[in-house]
Amino acid sequence: MAAIIGGVATTHVPAIGKAIAEKKYNDPYWKPFFKGFDYVDYWLAREKPDVAVIFYNDHGLNFFLDKLPTFAVGAAKEYRSEDEGWGIPVSRSVAGDVDLSWHLINTLVVDEFDVTMCQEMLIDHAVTIPMALMWPDQKWPVKIVPISINTVQHPLPSLARCFKLGRSIGRGIESYPQNLRVMVVGTGGLSHQLDGPRAGFINKAFDQLCLDKIVAEPQLLARYSIHDWVKESGAQGVEFLNWMAMRGALTGKVSELHRNYHIPISNTAAATVVYGNVKEVQRQAA
Ligand SMILES: [Fe+2]
Repeated sequence: MAAIIGGVATTHVPAIGKAIAEKKYNDPYWKPFFKGFDYVDYWLAREKPDVAVIFYNDHGLNFFLDKLPTFAVGAAKEYRSEDEGWGIPVSRSVAGDVDLSWHLINTLVVDEFDVTMCQEMLIDHAVTIPMALMWPDQKWPVKIVPISINTVQHPLPSLARCFKLGRSIGRGIESYPQNLRVMVVGTGGLSHQLDGPRAGFINKAFDQLCLDKIVAEPQLLARYSIHDWVKESGAQGVEFLNWMAMRGALTGKVSELHRNYHIPISNTAAATVVYGNVKEVQRQAA
């Protein structure tokens, strides 16, 4: 059976892609952020995942305001990236795990999540930058299942709904008959606002609360309304929905293995975390 080995979450701001292309790893502005990936590198080398299920939000590359699904699941053999501006180089394609995608889509629909199924899907910086950060040699040894959550056009799904979506994905992964080591990934956030009178808004105290509570008390965060989340975290801070789905997919005993928080990266509070996920039976056997 497939096993969920843990989760990684990271910001995905486009400027990171440019910094990677220009190899600014030791630049004083970037170093505190990139250093946060030393542990991620170690953890990935140790855990050797086969598949990454990635919760992210599309920024207008594959979906635009005219047709924007609340939840969309990729079921493609390959996911291409295209030029989306921002000076980010176009990324290489990523291989998809089609069979796992359909298994998860089936699980979601049985659980009453009526998702959009995408047998063709372009992936933007919200997928490619975390991939480039997690595997800096750019060899990308995993297949992916990308799951897009609308964080762009209101009404947005609630934090509680995204947590439940993650729960369904977690159950789906664990009922998949192949012996795969699956990691879950949430991208985006933390607090930031890119437009309007509050442009540049960052709320460090609220970010710390999110990072403190998401491991053991995610239900506390799930109680926030989207309106209150925007107030506390900024208009684009709602990308935390991807983190909530990732956390929901961790169905065992969850522990924080690593946390890095650095402000600002391109007007955004940048956080990188690694969460372990140990099943109850494994703990009893240990
Ligand atoms: Fe974003």
